Amino acid sequence: MIVRKFKPTDLKRVFEIENMSFNQSYGINMFQQLYNMGVGFLVAEDEGYVVGYVLFWVKYENQGHIISIAVDKNYRRHGCGTQMLVKAIGILSLLRLDTIYLEVNENNVGAVEFYKQFNFKIDRVVPGYYEDGDAAIVMYLPLKRGKVSSE
Ligand SMILES: CC(C)(COP(=O)(O)OP(=O)(O)OC[C@H]1O[C@@H](n2cnc3c(N)ncnc32)[C@H](O)[C@@H]1OP(=O)(O)O)[C@@H](O)C(=O)NCCC(=O)NCCS
Repeated sequence: MIVRKFKPTDLKRVFEIENMSFNQSYGINMFQQLYNMGVGFLVAEDEGYVVGYVLFWVKYENQGHIISIAVDKNYRRHGCGTQMLVKAIGILSLLRLDTIYLEVNENNVGAVEFYKQFNFKIDRVVPGYYEDGDAAIVMYLPLKRGKVSSE
């Protein structure tokens, strides 16, 4: 498995993975627009087949943001998510940010556990964050001088 930059020819597979992973979709055009905007966009590839993606950017001057991450159902729990998130954090860490944060659906227990493996902490809950009324848990990873903090 390798993690590499997204290419426009990956769009269909990324959209498929998003559809099997989330109830609400950004839509294929949004992925294209995010790519055009130049956000961080990586995919995990297994023997030429795209099995996951991660999108991230710098939202504010000192805050990185994980926009979305997902792995094909058939490839989960094999370290793909870890490899992609490690790479995304590594890239964001080069930018002297204070924190990396993200939102995760309050019912997405598996993803919360996944992020905790990386030392993401729970910051707060935002009621009604998602279109269907579900709350979001905001999680953050403190960085120290651009590096992942050991605290
Ligand atoms: C969250 C997600 C990206 C994780 O990807 P993955 O490739 O399965 O993750 P990894 O194999 O790297 O998991 C690393 C560790 O995280 C934890 N973890 C991952 N998924 C978990 C789950 N469903 N339940 C509990 N712990 C989990 C485990 O500790 C795991 O290590 P282990 O398999 O040795 O026990 C994947 O489950 C996914 O695509 N989910 C649907 C989309 C989603 O929820 N994205 C996040 C939205 S904010």
